Amino acid sequence: MSSTSLPKKKLLRVLQGHSEAVPPIWLMRQAGRYLPEYRATREQAGGFLDLCYSPELAEEVTLQPVRRYGFDASILFADILLIPQALGQDLWFETGEGPRLTPIENADSLSRAGVMIHLAPICETVARLSKSLPEETTLIGFAGAPWTVASYMVAGRGTPDQAPARDLAARDLAAFQSIIDMLVAATIDYLEAQALAGAEVLQLFESWAASLEGDEFERWCVAPVAAIIQGLRARGIDAPIIAFPRAAKTHMGAYCAAVGCDGLGLDTSADIAAVRAEVGDDMVLQGNLDPQILVRGGAELETAIADILAQIDNTPHIFNLGHGIVPQTPPAHVSRLIALIRGDETA
Ligand code: CP3
Repeated sequence: MSSTSLPKKKLLRVLQGHSEAVPPIWLMRQAGRYLPEYRATREQAGGFLDLCYSPELAEEVTLQPVRRYGFDASILFADILLIPQALGQDLWFETGEGPRLTPIENADSLSRAGVMIHLAPICETVARLSKSLPEETTLIGFAGAPWTVASYMVAGRGTPDQAPARDLAARDLAAFQSIIDMLVAATIDYLEAQALAGAEVLQLFESWAASLEGDEFERWCVAPVAAIIQGLRARGIDAPIIAFPRAAKTHMGAYCAAVGCDGLGLDTSADIAAVRAEVGDDMVLQGNLDPQILVRGGAELETAIADILAQIDNTPHIFNLGHGIVPQTPPAHVSRLIALIRGDETA
């Protein structure tokens, strides 16, 4: 990849294939319960979904970790399950238990008609952030990948093995395909709107890639993500797209080529050097520090960071975790992480 003028933002430079001596850093779920200021704003909003749909408060929680730590990127504060809700499915969060939806078995009760009206407040959050973020901070928009989102829509909740969705796909392929098709179309509209509102990078979260293999992985994880990326490019959206097929049991070189992503997120189990050999020199990698090591901190954290930095070795890489930061993380460990990455020994 080459360009005549290099972007001013470090994360965007790396996404054009340039390596940086000090890699850009952001953390998945960097706005969240480990921060006291997040808990206070969520309280003020009334609940998690109220927070997502309040542009002013969602903007505030997105900015909180950037203010505190000076991350190179900021991810829109929202959730991958807002799309099913926008399509007409009931969604609520049980305190301490995670998401709940009224389970569905086909797309009959869903409608695309109101999706962008429902999600307009989220795009307003993006528009506000594109004005209020520091000029060196990249704004990342996101959506869930269709298989992962559908697994919640069919089960009505998170499941360890996505059995309800796998079962529906096996019993009634056409019905499951109709849900996936609906998600592909809605996700293209949604990500296009985020990009037009100011999102500079888009990330697709495929949290449950590990439950499918072979033809099923191709059909439900690869094809829908490829269709979303193609659909966005056909509409002239050229923002770099990071795919994050967490713990996928597939050849990553083939995955990247098939979906057409610009960056690949790595979970904690990935071996950075081995994935780099599979994907080639140009693919941008992101990840994969274990969030539990960030909880423990100390010498173990220092060794893990040094190990990742050694493996990055002059390749285009975005420093991140291998999954979202957990609520038990001491905020001081995040400061230490950033100081170690940026070589600020005084911290
Ligand atoms: O990274 C960010 O800071 C951006 C915001 C974001 C959230 N969720 C906020 C959130 C993003 C990108 C997500 C993605 C998401 N949401 C995924 C994919 C990534 C992953 O974690 O695998 C999934 C599967 C969801 C669905 C979801 N939302 C679950 C399973 C839960 C409950 C688990 C939990 O941590 O409580 C949520 C709730 C959620 N989404 C919270 C946040 C900050 C916690 C809500 C709270 O404040 O109580």
